[in-house]
Amino acid sequence: MDKIRITGGRALQGVIPISGAKNAALPLMAACLLTDKPLELSNMPELADIATMAKLLEQHGATCERRKHKMTLCAAGVENVKAPYELVRTMRASVLVLGPLLARFGKAEVSLPGGCAIGTRPIDMHLKALEEMGASIKLRDGYVHASVKGRLKGANIIFDQVSVGATENILMAACLADGTTTITNAAREPEVADLARCLAAMGAEIEGIGTSRMTIRGKKKLHGASHRVVADRIEMGTYITCAAVTHGVVELTGADRAMLLPVIEKYEEAGVQFSDTKKGLRVSCPDGIRGVDVMTQPHPGFPTDMQAQFMALMSRARGASMITETVFENRFMHVPELVRMGANINVHGRSAMVRGVRNLRGAEVMATDLRASVSLVIAALAAKGDTLIHRVYHLDRGYERLEEKLAACGADIERVG
Ligand code: UD1
Repeated sequence: MDKIRITGGRALQGVIPISGAKNAALPLMAACLLTDKPLELSNMPELADIATMAKLLEQHGATCERRKHKMTLCAAGVENVKAPYELVRTMRASVLVLGPLLARFGKAEVSLPGGCAIGTRPIDMHLKALEEMGASIKLRDGYVHASVKGRLKGANIIFDQVSVGATENILMAACLADGTTTITNAAREPEVADLARCLAAMGAEIEGIGTSRMTIRGKKKLHGASHRVVADRIEMGTYITCAAVTHGVVELTGADRAMLLPVIEKYEEAGVQFSDTKKGLRVSCPDGIRGVDVMTQPHPGFPTDMQAQFMALMSRARGASMITETVFENRFMHVPELVRMGANINVHGRSAMVRGVRNLRGAEVMATDLRASVSLVIAALAAKGDTLIHRVYHLDRGYERLEEKLAACGADIERVG
């Protein structure tokens, strides 16, 4: 199994291009199921999760043609509405086919995702909302069996808590429902807004894009469209952290400061400096890092997908930082691995107290999930000596050409078999 070796201590200097967002691309791909006409997506990242979603759609009977960063999807020949366990198990975002399949074909059979490394992550909100839209939902043999007579009905959906996936599933389903659907307490993540914009280009009528209340007037049919996937704000935040922790100077191209404001504000408080350039954003950290507190929250709060990276940065800060995770339970698996590298971190329930240390030391560590594993890369870049990261398939799920992008800025990093 592949491992990554990093020898720390080099300040990153150079340019890193930011790819299209995985978390936007996955729901956009699922949206192809809403029409029998082609959907053309550009700025698609090349990632393992994208390949998994393509495999899932292909086994449903859709076609996914890939040319570098473009993908043309067509769901004209869908025959099979079952999303099998083998695929849903490897990628939770597979549940995003549920809403579109049910809305267009009146039935869907999707494996329950099961527990995962960052908490139980149920899909009860997706199912309850689909029931409110007239679907009959049965759980049998580990699968959700969903069906509806005729079309789904427009409904007034009020989510008890903010869920990105549930908002996306219901948004897609509502586009083909009979009547008007309102989603209250909708997720406002830029990736949800990107999906809504693509659906609008496919003929959907959506009001309130980017807000917590969306109104969707259902249509009998949607058509094809071309859409460019938004930049990956989490990839951007990750490379900001790599630059800061090594006291480097890096320009992120294709990056948009507006998408990452809550993170930029926190990083500025911690001593990281930003300046806009023609092509993106320059990051530097001339005076070292100060400890600051952070609490994860749904957008526009500090994203949970940046929590592990921020913790790696804080482990080298002057002073202490209290990091509180409110979105997921059990999202501190990176803590014991960072501690193996010399970090001083104590977890109390949902909060972690990080006391900055002068030096981290290279060690053999284990990646446990996507963002946890990249926090180990960040710590390794700043550590003295060699770090060997095991189970890097987690990184390949969400970071396009990570070693190449970091090596181009002077990092001493290589993949070893
Ligand atoms: C998406 C992102 C993920 C990010 C997360 C939160 C994708 C592919 N993944 O995941 O990277 O970390 O948003 O920003 O876009 N919940 C329920 N019941 C439900 C649905 C969710 O209790 O039916 C809970 C979850 O367990 C979690 C919280 O709601 O505690 C937020 O989860 P959600 O926003 O749904 O995350 P995902 O869409 O799975």
